[in-house]
Amino acid sequence: MAQAGKSTESESSMESVLTENRHFPPPAAFAKQAHIGSIEKYEEMHKRSVEDSEGFWSEVADELHWFKKWDTVLEWNLPDAKWFVGGKTNICYNCIDRQIDDGLGDHTAIVWEGEPIQDQDGGHAGGEPEIRKLTYNDLKREVSRFANALKNLGVKKGDVVTIYMPMVPELAIAMLACARIGAPHSIIFGGFSASAIRDRVEDGKSNIVITADGGWRRGKAVPLKDNVDEALTLTDLVKTVVVLERCQNDINMVEGRDHWWEDITATASEHCEAEPMDAEDLLFILYTSGSTGKPKGIMHTTGGYMVYTYLTSKYTFDLHPENNDMYWCTADIGWITGHSYIVYGLLPNRVPTLMYEGAPDAPDKDRFWDIIERHKVTKFYTAPTAIRAFMKWGREHIDKHDLSSLNVLGTVGEPINPEAWMWYHEVIGNEKCPIVDTWWQTETGGHMLTPLPGATTTTPGSCTKPFFGIDAAVVNSEGEPVGENEGGILVIRKPWPSMLRGVYGNRERFIDTYWSKVEGYYTAGDGARKDEHGNFWIMGRIDDVIVVAGHNLGTMEVESALVSHDAVAEAAVVGFPHDIKGTGIAAFVTLVGGIEETDELKKQVRDHVAKELGPISKPDKLQFTPALPKTRSGKIMRRLLRDIAAGREISGDITTLEDKSIVEKLQQQAD
Ligand code: WTA
Repeated sequence: MAQAGKSTESESSMESVLTENRHFPPPAAFAKQAHIGSIEKYEEMHKRSVEDSEGFWSEVADELHWFKKWDTVLEWNLPDAKWFVGGKTNICYNCIDRQIDDGLGDHTAIVWEGEPIQDQDGGHAGGEPEIRKLTYNDLKREVSRFANALKNLGVKKGDVVTIYMPMVPELAIAMLACARIGAPHSIIFGGFSASAIRDRVEDGKSNIVITADGGWRRGKAVPLKDNVDEALTLTDLVKTVVVLERCQNDINMVEGRDHWWEDITATASEHCEAEPMDAEDLLFILYTSGSTGKPKGIMHTTGGYMVYTYLTSKYTFDLHPENNDMYWCTADIGWITGHSYIVYGLLPNRVPTLMYEGAPDAPDKDRFWDIIERHKVTKFYTAPTAIRAFMKWGREHIDKHDLSSLNVLGTVGEPINPEAWMWYHEVIGNEKCPIVDTWWQTETGGHMLTPLPGATTTTPGSCTKPFFGIDAAVVNSEGEPVGENEGGILVIRKPWPSMLRGVYGNRERFIDTYWSKVEGYYTAGDGARKDEHGNFWIMGRIDDVIVVAGHNLGTMEVESALVSHDAVAEAAVVGFPHDIKGTGIAAFVTLVGGIEETDELKKQVRDHVAKELGPISKPDKLQFTPALPKTRSGKIMRRLLRDIAAGREISGDITTLEDKSIVEKLQQQAD
């Protein structure tokens, strides 16, 4: 069925391109039952969705519940879009009540598993994980209670509520409660520190924080409440803190300011009507750090975001409640992936969404596969950084488990190296699960470029084609499309329902960052190329493209060539000032477990890249490292590596870095 074999091509012209000849059509049996079961159907629907975008989206919106129907589907004043103007709806109602109205109240909405295995010191064997299942009825009761508790604390429609919680059901409950009463939430990932909390609280002018005593991560309680306390010594905006008890770790409760979740919900009524919200009312702010400057508060509103995340969830993962689908996205809700594809897009699709609290290697490196086997997960969505870690850990952890329930595998967050893609396909998917490599951003709200599992022929490393309603192109700075396989700027040329509505409190940054690089189009900040099959390939952030001796090299392609060497687990590539070429290529490489770091191997790996991509792409320097510097969401921080490769002091903010000791090690070793 699939074409095997990879070939190399080094072109004398502009780009050096890793040519990929492996193509995987959707399995016939899968396509037969899929919502979108052929490429012809995709093409026909895509054409219509772009040409008559308003007609298309109004039909989708009609599948959901509205208190009042919209008057106008779209008002577009570049760069400001308003969708479903005049419509009144509530996304919490669509996540919960709509299912109950249709008689599905006792169906499972959320399945949650905590990290600790009950006999803590005994590891896996014999121990039982903590599991909670919430039906739509349970969820309505809990959300309504908490919504009333918030109202009792004085929270009103329009107030920004900060949420800093572990991955427990109460996190979903808190966000849905905010949506129910029309208070926009601002969720902060639990791995962030006190100063990140302070920055976001101040930027959002939020005077309430919802947190927990702690959350379990590799057997330790992450001290969330302590971090909040520290943040609140840096700002006096916050008057109210709600604390969920999770780890029973020692914390300090401040009289008059801090309230236990348990206490305020015990007395609250379990009836709370969902507030009819204007389609364009603010649903949430979510901060994205970007590579420089202070975090931007990305704004998403109610109606368009709801409709778009509902449809992308349904089609990208091919969700079918009638087939006992069990969906699991391993992201944290603190990221956009969790907002859109654990909670808001999933619940309206009536498929249970699984939440897991802890680390993939707690207590053992097979925890994810154990979860998939026990819960019979059918759709699995994770990040390339996790996939590369699984590869490094070895397949013995996977072979212990029955993963036959899986039928769609997803990835998001970074370009996936073809090598990691093939591993995912073979080892996790047993060669039978379509892979959906979804390209999108906090700003886009939902999937933009993605295969549809029953329709699209996939190719390792490509996020393939635009979703319905998306007019994507690769252009030069004048906005003209570049040629086939030529690198350029990825833009979106027409508005879509879940596009960001702005940067909170900063109009100028909104315009500068997204609307001033190419006139009239949304620029994502990513470089890309489009191949002869119309498939898109993300080349990395525009800032990461390296020009070597006049050749335009995507860091991504060089990294993929490095990872295709058997000894290499992970790689990052940056440019550095080079006397002769202008810019040289520096590679940072982690090896597969147990392989020795030798000069001979360095040479071999560099030669391997030259063989795969052509001599122009051969790294000038190569450094082995036990790990790469990454943000807490798993993205490689190339900015730091650029400083290290150039022998400069590290510049800019490193507060989002996961493990700071890696940087010191790299600096010491650098030649
Ligand atoms: C990168 C995550 C290649 C890209 C949803 C984008 C990807 C940034 C992919 C947004 C993918 C995300 N292939 N690159 N499938 N998915 N990216 O805001 O550079 O955390 O601009 O949103 O991640 O990251 P964010």
